[in-house]
Amino acid sequence: MPNQVNVVLLGLGVVGGGVARAISERADTYSQRVGASLALRRVLVRHLEKEREIKVDPGLLTADPEEALSGDVDIVVELLGGEHPAYDLIKDSLSRGRYVVTANKEVMAKHGSELLALAAERGVDILYEASVGGGIPIISPLKRDLSANDISCVRAIINGTTNYILTCMSRDGLDFDTALAQAQQLGYAEADPTNDIDGHDAAYKLAILASLAFHTRVGPEEICREGIGGLAARDFRYARELGYAIKLLAVARLEDSSLQVLVHPTLVPEDELLAKVDGVLNAVEIEGDLTGRVLFQGAGAGSLPTTSAVMADVLEAARALVLGGRPFPWRYTAEVAVRPLAELVTRYYIRLEVADRPSVLAGIARAFGDHQVSIASVIQKEADEAAQTAELVVMTHPAREEAVQATLVQVRDLPDVVSVGNLLRVDG
Ligand code: HSE
Repeated sequence: MPNQVNVVLLGLGVVGGGVARAISERADTYSQRVGASLALRRVLVRHLEKEREIKVDPGLLTADPEEALSGDVDIVVELLGGEHPAYDLIKDSLSRGRYVVTANKEVMAKHGSELLALAAERGVDILYEASVGGGIPIISPLKRDLSANDISCVRAIINGTTNYILTCMSRDGLDFDTALAQAQQLGYAEADPTNDIDGHDAAYKLAILASLAFHTRVGPEEICREGIGGLAARDFRYARELGYAIKLLAVARLEDSSLQVLVHPTLVPEDELLAKVDGVLNAVEIEGDLTGRVLFQGAGAGSLPTTSAVMADVLEAARALVLGGRPFPWRYTAEVAVRPLAELVTRYYIRLEVADRPSVLAGIARAFGDHQVSIASVIQKEADEAAQTAELVVMTHPAREEAVQATLVQVRDLPDVVSVGNLLRVDG
């Protein structure tokens, strides 16, 4: 039984700093919990001379990946982020028979199945609790605690940046640009926020969750993705009047033996728990046939919450090394097809800007009728007297996406329709 487990850290940023600090400051506790001490052997950084808040023995720092990975290494903790060189270094580490712990959602979403298979082949494991939901335990519950269930649905708010922006738009009536600027000022959004705003980050995380929940490989490219940039402050007002919150929802739902996987701004009934998850918080709701609905909620990012998830994986890998056992490899045991968005059936919120004249509504209603899309309600909102235009909000009964899209093509062509302001789907 080894009495020391050697750890290499790739990356010393916000999370890497938290992990280095935890290994050093909690050394006694961790050694009691594992039955061996954790030794930080090397830290890969981009710039050796950079001023850092976290004080790490300068002798441990290296800018050379080969130097970082060579020698007596048991666990490689990858916290570089991004696809490359992280993917290459993870692959290299697994090939050398090292355990890998990573927070990298992009790498796990795109290459998870290959890396898990490689880990299994080499008799080690790749652990990735921190890749989704920061400090929220969700990967491990899906792999273990919920594994006796047939899961029918995963619904999640898994991007703190967008949830913060949507909360500001809803609560303070801010427009998108102002809310984004506020999020950037507070450090909740990056200077280039595209990855968050356009839903890429949430799609990576959903790909990981759906693959685990449904025991099949779901790639990020299979997820229908819409960002939050098209939302207006008045969408939140109208939605609230109708009894809904608007959330960037990541949804994976199994219906008729195939999966619908979507990341999109969604109307969520305001009495649902997910509708009340505000600010930078994340939440994941899982529906299992034995457990019913369970909800995991907490901090989805940040140094300490993410350190909590990373270190839990480090401790698990260290325990496996101490016990000398072979980890049970995660296997995809099902083949589940992903359904195209055109086949989605749900209710829709459609905001239209129209000429404020008699019989306009009749033409719009006819277009919906022509495509068998049943209208549940129409509300006329703010009229602009000078421009002689009015805003209509149409709520539909459940309808097929392709029928709704065909309806909107026809509606756009009507002479009295100025524009289709927004289309949002209802979930719940
Ligand atoms: N940009 C991510 C978010 C951080 O806003 O949730 C964690 O992945």
